[in-house]
Amino acid sequence: MQHLLSIESLTAAEILKTIDLAKKLKATRGMETSKPLAGECWGLLFSKSSTRTRVSFEVGIRELGGEALFLSSSEIQLGRGEPIEDTARVLGRMIHGAVIRTFKQSDIETFAALSGIPTINALTDEEHPCQILADLLTIEELHGSLDGLKVAFIGDADCNMGRSWIWAAARLGFELRLACPELYRPPAELIARAEAAGGAVTITNDPEEAAHGADILYTDVWVSMGKEEEAEYRTAQFTRYQINDSVVAAAAPKAHVLHCLPAYRGKEITAEVFERHADAIFQQAENRLHAQKAVMTLLKS
Ligand code: CP
Ligand code: NVA
Repeated sequence: MQHLLSIESLTAAEILKTIDLAKKLKATRGMETSKPLAGECWGLLFSKSSTRTRVSFEVGIRELGGEALFLSSSEIQLGRGEPIEDTARVLGRMIHGAVIRTFKQSDIETFAALSGIPTINALTDEEHPCQILADLLTIEELHGSLDGLKVAFIGDADCNMGRSWIWAAARLGFELRLACPELYRPPAELIARAEAAGGAVTITNDPEEAAHGADILYTDVWVSMGKEEEAEYRTAQFTRYQINDSVVAAAAPKAHVLHCLPAYRGKEITAEVFERHADAIFQQAENRLHAQKAVMTLLKS
């Protein structure tokens, strides 16, 4: 792997290799002998808020022997309009790797192409690949295997998480059901491309139908970063698309409930369901660290 720009751009073998290495790194945390980022300084360029991604990368880079430099876009010239093309060519001569959280997927792709350094997508409007790798690790730990998996995503299926799930299902060949309002369906062209790549994706307006017999129930915020002005309208549109007791009752008896966080109780998930599944959800958050250490290690190998 040269970069991690999306789940779409990975092969099944790359995804599985990353999860396997993440498991090993998790089991040996604090006992590592190899420091693949020794002597390196990695930059974190963030144009959106973050708790998990920022901290897990800063800690992970240090644990791999490197140093992390946090660059908020509001504090560098990027935020005042300096083009991404120039930012990439400057930083590529100074730092050894880049972790970027921004709006446009094309900005990450441009940065990767022009900087000449390993570049990681730490969330764009289109994909959140680091989260999916941690989620797949968590599902292997909790469910035992990814084979024959049935995942139901309830909520904004056209956000970065919905789209990354579509590509994870396409690459690994598991069943994905999306439950969302008509207006928030991913584009038909995207679904067609994922299906052509082997994905089995169904879309429904009914959360309980999507949840029926599912092994994993997954949700994300109704109002993604950058969509704040639409908050009131979205909240009205998504009211039915909540993981609650009825949706959990429709799933497989031992179904796991996952959430990428941050969570808004009473909106995309009830407080009761969240707390009953909190152990799994926070295991998922911890796995960000292990999965991203695996990604950075593979980018250096
Ligand atoms: N799940 C996730 O990416 O969390 P942060 O926005 O806190 O980084
Ligand atoms: N879809 C959410 C994910 C947050 C981790 C957002 O983009 O805000």
